Amino acid sequence: MESRRRFLQTAGALLGALLMPAGSRGAERLERRIPKTGEALPAVGLGTWQVFDVAGDAKELAEAKETLRVFVDSGGRVVDSSPMYGSSEQVTGQLAAELSVRPKLFVATKVWTSGKQPGIRQMEDSMRRLRVERLDLMQVHNLVDVQTHLTTLRDWKAAGRIRYLGITHYHSGAHAELGKLVSKGDIDFLQVNYSLVEPEAGRRLLGAAAGAGTAVIVNRPFAEGAMFRRVKGRALPDWAKEAGCASWAQFFLKWILAEPAVTCVIPGTRNPRHVADNLGTLSGPLPDAALRRRMAEHFDSL
Ligand SMILES: NC(=O)c1ccc[n+]([C@@H]2O[C@H](COP(=O)([O-])OP(=O)(O)OC[C@H]3O[C@@H](n4cnc5c(N)ncnc54)[C@H](OP(=O)(O)O)[C@@H]3O)[C@@H](O)[C@H]2O)c1
Repeated sequence: MESRRRFLQTAGALLGALLMPAGSRGAERLERRIPKTGEALPAVGLGTWQVFDVAGDAKELAEAKETLRVFVDSGGRVVDSSPMYGSSEQVTGQLAAELSVRPKLFVATKVWTSGKQPGIRQMEDSMRRLRVERLDLMQVHNLVDVQTHLTTLRDWKAAGRIRYLGITHYHSGAHAELGKLVSKGDIDFLQVNYSLVEPEAGRRLLGAAAGAGTAVIVNRPFAEGAMFRRVKGRALPDWAKEAGCASWAQFFLKWILAEPAVTCVIPGTRNPRHVADNLGTLSGPLPDAALRRRMAEHFDSL
């Protein structure tokens, strides 16, 4: 009886998820559902590369703490780290504990080494530094020794040590391999670069992810900040208000989120004003296809 009840609950949750539009708005904030489970996530998260690698500097640590506080207060949940990011995992774990926000976060990190046992050791160290017993999402960073780690991650998921498994890369040269792995069907999350200056994933990869029921996290949404240099000193066009954009950051993020295959975008910042700006993208309208094309044409003309 119990297993039948569980089956019906799971089937009901999945049916509900399928019936929801790919992108939908809660009362206040834009959320997207993880295709494999129907779990909803706020569509803007926080990247920690470089910006949270601040363990040795009290001033920068305080900035990171205020950024995480504003992030959670503004409805953010997804935080992405990696053992490659210096002290970022340790700082994220420490600040989440100090702010008592750990239960609100959806914590993602990565494995970035070769070999089964080194991978296991690294993932256990990451979980200790992040102060989690069960990780929301573990991703194979830049496809390093991907088959070895996916085998471990499947076992860890079955044992309940992680909730979701994923793969990441930051460069279009890896999109073909990412697409092949995603098409096999058991990848919960794909993390990949996608932006107005790096739009390649939109050609095939995001469609492959949608077809395979794989959630998509977008990294490098501002091409590491380079996009702000292109618009420096330029006002937003008036028509950008139709898409609910109050800043260039929101213009860039809304262009990304108008693609329904995208589950969450993770801009990196240690600036509380910037994180509030980025989370502001969760409210207001998204551009339709025509407006999205206009946004791309305008940005290309600058
Ligand atoms: N292979 C991988 O798995 C991989 C590769 C790359 C990135 N990632 C993940 O993706 C995250 C994001 O990528 P990224 O950090 O490389 O680049 P990004 O998010 O495209 O750009 C970060 C830069 O944008 C600036 N910024 C952020 N919000 C802003 C705002 N509202 N207004 C003005 N400037 C703003 C930041 O400066 P301030 O600090 O001054 O705000 C920072 O210099 C990383 O942190 C990491 O978690 C993963």
